[in-house]
Amino acid sequence: MKKRAKEIADTMLDSSDVHIVSHIDADGITSASIAYAALNRAGINASVQFVKQLEERIIGDIKEKKHPLIWFTDLGSGQLDSLAALKCVITDHHEPQGDSSGNFDRGDILSYSTKKTIELNPHRYGIDGSTEISGAGTTYLVAKEMGDNVDLSKLAVVGAVGDMQASARGKLIGLNRKILAEGEREGVVSTTMDAQLYGLESRPISKVIEYASDPLLPGLSGDEIGCMNFLEELNVPIKEDGGWRKWYHLDNSEKRRIISALADRILNRGYPPSYARSLVGEVYIFPGEEPGTMLHEAKEFSTLLNSCGRYRKGKVGLEVCLGDREKKLKEARGLLKGHQKVLVDCLRTIESQGVEQKEYLQYFHGGYNIPETVLGTVAGMVLGSGRVDRSIPILGFAYTEDDEGVKVSSRATRSLVDSGLDLSQVMSNISKKVGGEGGGHAIAAGAFIPMGTEDKFLKLAENMVKKQIR
Ligand code: C5P
Ligand code: C5P
Ligand code: ZN
Repeated sequence: MKKRAKEIADTMLDSSDVHIVSHIDADGITSASIAYAALNRAGINASVQFVKQLEERIIGDIKEKKHPLIWFTDLGSGQLDSLAALKCVITDHHEPQGDSSGNFDRGDILSYSTKKTIELNPHRYGIDGSTEISGAGTTYLVAKEMGDNVDLSKLAVVGAVGDMQASARGKLIGLNRKILAEGEREGVVSTTMDAQLYGLESRPISKVIEYASDPLLPGLSGDEIGCMNFLEELNVPIKEDGGWRKWYHLDNSEKRRIISALADRILNRGYPPSYARSLVGEVYIFPGEEPGTMLHEAKEFSTLLNSCGRYRKGKVGLEVCLGDREKKLKEARGLLKGHQKVLVDCLRTIESQGVEQKEYLQYFHGGYNIPETVLGTVAGMVLGSGRVDRSIPILGFAYTEDDEGVKVSSRATRSLVDSGLDLSQVMSNISKKVGGEGGGHAIAAGAFIPMGTEDKFLKLAENMVKKQIR
């Protein structure tokens, strides 16, 4: 990978103008920021464009612009055929089209470096791109070969956390871990063991518990008064000097009391010990950022970026990654409020209409009520909520904003993937059969299909899931 990264770095350093095309989520925004910063530092002109997905239509538009060189980050490997005629490089971690085995011999690796296209993708080297390295991490490998860019490892950590690569085991693994170690050595990241809850820096403690969804806290999630009483019983004051206390204000004994009490509740209600264990894991802190802000901790940082890209404001997120702590940060915070409201509304919609159960999958159709850009996030939240069957994957549908078709998002669990499920294959194969396009990761994948093909898609997808799961 290092050799291929160097090859790409040399190509970049030989250019004077590079156009970056990236994905709209946190990993895509951090990927673009790493690429942009590395080019900028090397004195190369760079422009950036964010896209929801790399559809044929979008590729057509990009081709028309006749950019001298294009750098696709956090996407591209699923569309190698369509990109073949473009002079471009790709740093991506999605399953490459064609073969999902992850076992490529040297010949295969070489075949994806033509004179025009050079691709860096972990799957080509037997490395799992859904758990061991993100799009930002893959892009960082190139940035490192372009100059003194180790500080950008911080953004690679945000990207990996944003793609939920630390979620399954409560820590980053594989190449992500190496990148993390580089960031620690550089002093831009520090790792602590702490609660795996969301909002440790920016939310009042009672809200951290009340809003917890992954893991869901039995008898507490969603219950405002209950959470306040819970903390009072544990002798943890929720206010101090008139202001709300945040998790990072708590001393170790207070944190321990809360986590033990949460674990007791989980175990007393018959959940498995692994569920209680998942309350604690690694938390990634950025010492260069101000404590008590969302930028100080990786999960919150990535959520802030998602709030930008998913509402056509990827460039606001980019500016924040590149260091804007004034105007753009303020704008991002405003977008976050809207994002949180959208998610709450979407979850209410699904709660009221319910999730349809089939034998090998379950699904919901958000119609015009769920924006396509948050469909995947919502599907993941529903599956993680503990309120639906976790032994089968979930699919979500929603109409695209310009009425051009239907967006599909699918999510699964680690154990389903371990038993053979590969949603990336399902999404790319079945979408093709109904005239659409798709791909992604075994555990999380998406597609875009023509209007009215949902039923056929469901039937074919269920068949394929059935065959995959043994
Ligand atoms: O396009 P990209 O690779 O950035 O998106 C990855 C998606 O996979 C994210 O939406 C992330 O939430 C999802 N994912 C997941 N569970 C995992 C790993 C990734 O839902 N264990
Ligand atoms: O959009 P969603 O969050 O459901 O996407 C899940 C994963 O599938 C992401 O990694 C995304 O980049 C990928 N995807 C894809 N092709 C599509 C739609 C999604 O590769 N047409
Ligand atoms: Zn990604």
